Amino acid sequence: MDKFLIRGGRALKGRVEISGAKNSALPCLAAALLTDETVILHNVPYVKDLITQRRLLEDLGATVLTPELRTHKITARNIATFEAPYELVKTMRASVLALGPLLARFGQARVSMPGGCAIGTRPIDLHLKAFEQLGAVIELESGDVVARAPKGRLVGADVGFEKVTVTGTENVMMASSLASGRTIIRNAAREPEIEDLAELMNRMGARIKGAGTDTIEIDGVDAMSGAEHTIIPDRIETGTFIVAAAITGGEVEITRCDPTHLRAAIGKLGEAGVEIDELNQSTLSVRRSASGLKAKDVITEPHPLFPTDMQAQYMALMTQAEGNSVIQETIFENRFMHASELTRMGANISIHGNEATVHGPTPLSGARVLASDLRASASLVLAALCANGETLIDRVYHIDRGYETIVRKLWALGADIERITDHEASAAEAVQSV
Ligand code: EPZ
Repeated sequence: MDKFLIRGGRALKGRVEISGAKNSALPCLAAALLTDETVILHNVPYVKDLITQRRLLEDLGATVLTPELRTHKITARNIATFEAPYELVKTMRASVLALGPLLARFGQARVSMPGGCAIGTRPIDLHLKAFEQLGAVIELESGDVVARAPKGRLVGADVGFEKVTVTGTENVMMASSLASGRTIIRNAAREPEIEDLAELMNRMGARIKGAGTDTIEIDGVDAMSGAEHTIIPDRIETGTFIVAAAITGGEVEITRCDPTHLRAAIGKLGEAGVEIDELNQSTLSVRRSASGLKAKDVITEPHPLFPTDMQAQYMALMTQAEGNSVIQETIFENRFMHASELTRMGANISIHGNEATVHGPTPLSGARVLASDLRASASLVLAALCANGETLIDRVYHIDRGYETIVRKLWALGADIERITDHEASAAEAVQSV
């Protein structure tokens, strides 16, 4: 498995361009299943999860052309099967986003139940309950969700989520877009990715109002058409590079981002001593303030509040802040696995239930560490950038799922980072053993 070798202590300087949002591109690719015409998506990030999502569409029978690396032209005219197999779903739970569009357009879908993952059990019970409210019959068969619309078409309904769920909201938006009648989604997720999906779907002929608020109204239509759409920038990649600039004491210009998508994170990082200037609507200039980093408590909550996907990166920063900070994780039940690895690098973190207390600042030293999930990996990279000495991060396939060419982007900012492939590692060992 590939590893990252990082020699810390260099202040990052220069300019970095943000890629398209993974968590918008994933539902937008799935939405192409709603029509037999061609959907063209620009700014799709070149990351592993989107390669997986593309494979899923092709396995279902869609054709996906990529005239350019980040442009996907999807035509789901000849869908031959309505099944998302276990091998795919087990590698990426976002495959469940195929359920909604397949149910909507074909009245049937079979998707392997996603297992849990490192950060939690992550069930899809809320998705399934909502589909049943739309008239679907849901059965579990040897680990697969088998969903059917008895009369071939779902019926609009008033759907209330007892918990905010991002992909649950997206799945119901897609399922109800071709239903007969009106659907109201209450307690809907409000993430920018939901708004981006709604914008694409409305271009395809859907009739969606209220995306971005907690109540979304969808009037079902009989058919949808092709469309062209550009995916929004990745707000979590943006936040990650803000932390990279601050934790290394550098000065970085972040371009092609959208600061309005991460107001809470920018606000909290500003309180913690990170200077973030908005040069224009899509460019930030970031540095650590002269007075240094200060420990600030944070609670992760659904958008528009502080995002859980920034929690691990924020924890790495707090190891360098003056004072004690309490980080409360309210979304996932096991999202502190980066804490033990940060501790191995010298951090002083204590965990009590869903609260982590970081005592800072503590000098970090390079070490061999293990990535456990996508955002934990980012946290370890950030810590390694400011640690003394060398850090070797193993299982970096996690980070490849959601960060486009992160080694190249960090290297261009002056980081001393390289990817060591398995082949290189074994060759190096062979040489050493001689
Ligand atoms: C989306 O996951 C994101 N993934 C996650 O990003 C993100 O962390 C999460 O939303 C929260 O913001 C994509 O958009 C592809 P949820 P999702 O349904 O939709 C519970 C990353 O790092 N829940 O909003 O799967 C669930 O267990 C990834 O890019 C149920 O109980 O998350 C969790 O505790 C990680 N039953 C909470 O709700 C359900 O049916 C929020 O989950 C659904 C969810």
